[in-house]
Amino acid sequence: MNKRANVLVTGAGGQIGSELVAALREVNNIVYPSDIRAPENPQEHFLQLDVLDKERMREIVIEYEIEEIFHLAAILSAKGEENPMLAWRVNLESVLTVLELAAEFKLFKVFIPSSIAVFGLGTPKDNTPQNTITAPDTVYGITKLAGERWCNYYYNKKGVDVRSLRYPGLVGYKTLPGGGTTDYAVDIYHKALKDGHYDCYISKDVAMPMMYMPDAIRATVELLQAPPDNLTVRSSYNLSAMSFTPEQIAASIKKHIPTFTIDYKPDFRDDIARTWPSSIDDSAARREWNWRHEYDLDKMTEDMLMNLEGV
Ligand code: NAD
Ligand code: SER
Repeated sequence: MNKRANVLVTGAGGQIGSELVAALREVNNIVYPSDIRAPENPQEHFLQLDVLDKERMREIVIEYEIEEIFHLAAILSAKGEENPMLAWRVNLESVLTVLELAAEFKLFKVFIPSSIAVFGLGTPKDNTPQNTITAPDTVYGITKLAGERWCNYYYNKKGVDVRSLRYPGLVGYKTLPGGGTTDYAVDIYHKALKDGHYDCYISKDVAMPMMYMPDAIRATVELLQAPPDNLTVRSSYNLSAMSFTPEQIAASIKKHIPTFTIDYKPDFRDDIARTWPSSIDDSAARREWNWRHEYDLDKMTEDMLMNLEGV
């Protein structure tokens, strides 16, 4: 990313944004976090922005001389099923607004994340390749897949330097997640410490690709710093660190809290999880911009419990 860029982050109050803003401030001149929700505590340069308000986003780009946009605002998979039309609008119309602004104002770069949700029941489940069947079964996945194709289109046709990652389920201790299928892997740590027990809405043997937040933030910064000529994927890169089932994360927690217990009460999110890959092949990211993850399941568990215990 440009050393002295003015950066707008949409959806900055969410699980990723809350951590990405600080990381971007370390490498950028001025970061403008924005969200439809006002922050609980005062935040430097915060701008209230509904990403469906195209005119306001355009005004912000002009007024604050924005040069890069990290477009995080979205409705995640579980919440998306509650209101599919809202998910479609928030997740896709806003992507087009950002890409249009990037083309019009010749922004240096834009980052628009995608997800493992672009894959569906017909996709190879293990070590899912970069290029394979993408036939998502959720409205969230449909919006993310369409968004990926628009990113690729704006790169090819309008020269927009757009970059994207298909994040796996993200786990962090600083913020609660915002309504995804993979959220159980965050909730479980909170409940393990508070109640010593967790009722899990995913079946015990359903594996999903996951990543600890410090790895996800570093991946984002590193992708944005990569020389453009190294990047062959302008839709979205597969990205991977670890895969585990609820039974495996429970076993990892038991190493620290031996009395911890878990029950399985699968709901509609279990059905969503079963349509997603178990593990991901991210060799393109490793080859082209040298992606390396740091955290495996046990290392993440140790760090999560240590940090949450201090909360
Ligand atoms: P989140 O749900 O925690 O945060 C999303 C933020 O967007 C919230 O703060 C919400 O207030 C805001 N928002 C919602 N509607 C808005 C609107 N109309 N205008 C402005 N802001 C609005 O999500 P997250 O986990 O931080 O995800 C960020 C991005 O990363 C999303 O695009 C998501 O699809 C993607 N992603 C996340 C994960 C994950 O596990 N967290 C995995 C894959 C992809
Ligand atoms: N973690 C996200 C979700 O579960 C995947 O994009 O919705």
